[in-house]
Amino acid sequence: MNITVTKAPASRRAQANLDNPAFGEIFSDHMFLMNYRDGGWGAATLIPYGPLPMLPSMSALHYGQIVFEGLKAFRQKNGAVALFRPQKFYERFARSCRRLAIPAVSREQFIGAVKAVVREDAAWVPQKQGHSLYLRPFVFASESFLGVRASRAYTFMVIASPVGNYYKEGVKPVRLTTSLAYIRAAKGGLGDVKTPANYAASLLAAEEAREQGFAQVIWLDAIERRYLEEVGAMNIFCVIGGELITPPLEGTILPGVTRDSVLALAKAWGIAAVERRIAIDELYDARQKGTLREVFGSGTAAVISPVGEIRHGDTTLTVNGGAIGPLAQRLYDAITGIQYGEAADTFGWMEKVE
Ligand code: COI
Repeated sequence: MNITVTKAPASRRAQANLDNPAFGEIFSDHMFLMNYRDGGWGAATLIPYGPLPMLPSMSALHYGQIVFEGLKAFRQKNGAVALFRPQKFYERFARSCRRLAIPAVSREQFIGAVKAVVREDAAWVPQKQGHSLYLRPFVFASESFLGVRASRAYTFMVIASPVGNYYKEGVKPVRLTTSLAYIRAAKGGLGDVKTPANYAASLLAAEEAREQGFAQVIWLDAIERRYLEEVGAMNIFCVIGGELITPPLEGTILPGVTRDSVLALAKAWGIAAVERRIAIDELYDARQKGTLREVFGSGTAAVISPVGEIRHGDTTLTVNGGAIGPLAQRLYDAITGIQYGEAADTFGWMEKVE
């Protein structure tokens, strides 16, 4: 892909406080931008990070025809920079675009755009352990039109944000509550694609949970309000007896790249890893029987996020005495080990940016 580059007059990096940046607060010097008009993608450009010109009638602002992704670039032990599973993120992006009736960019355009930003802003890829450069590719309907139909114009962009540890205190078990009032997704809806509507639908529930002293919401299925679906914006895993269990991808759950990586590692380690429905009552039963070992979330931002306590109705369940479990810790260490080039990349997950 041929990219026209307009360099930022000066880098903002020296002024940025990169000690332990909060997630998504600081942005690098450049961004990728490419417009879709008249049935095709136009010129690929890399330009200084900054405001976008847009009209108030821009369709994405009204009807939410938007898809995004989130992946990370890591500083390797030897100084090189590598992306974690960019091909897998592209595949999900293309699937999400189909569901939102957005013309997808090609694999070459997606990967090329991500790498162009990382290459240009390589100085923004942190050196520190636990830190990385978070890449946010996204596409939105950019036609100025208020009629309800798929837009005829789109803008595809990639921005980059240096991030520290997702949890400033380090990997620490969180307290969660199920939501009985709200649902996140139903089959046939948008729950299995990465589009802002899912996140918008979750915010009020998350706010109410926080007001009650919980870090996030455990989402239950929309029909029976019984089966575990996701935890906050992450996939959920439970260890019951000797089994690692996660809900199956049946149309309401986002197919997480970290989720897929957890399943691959567990299988390689000879741990029984199964995808099946888990009822919230099964957790209580398992706790009663003494077989509930661990509950944790998985996602790109936090990698592994242990769950210490779950409230459901008027009952509360403590998991593993409120401490991180051994499998969650082992998975966190293994995934981050591969990401920083400290462990052998036996699955071929890392892709160097040269
Ligand atoms: C994750 O990476 O776990 C996410 O769900 C991304 C979130 C920051 C939108």
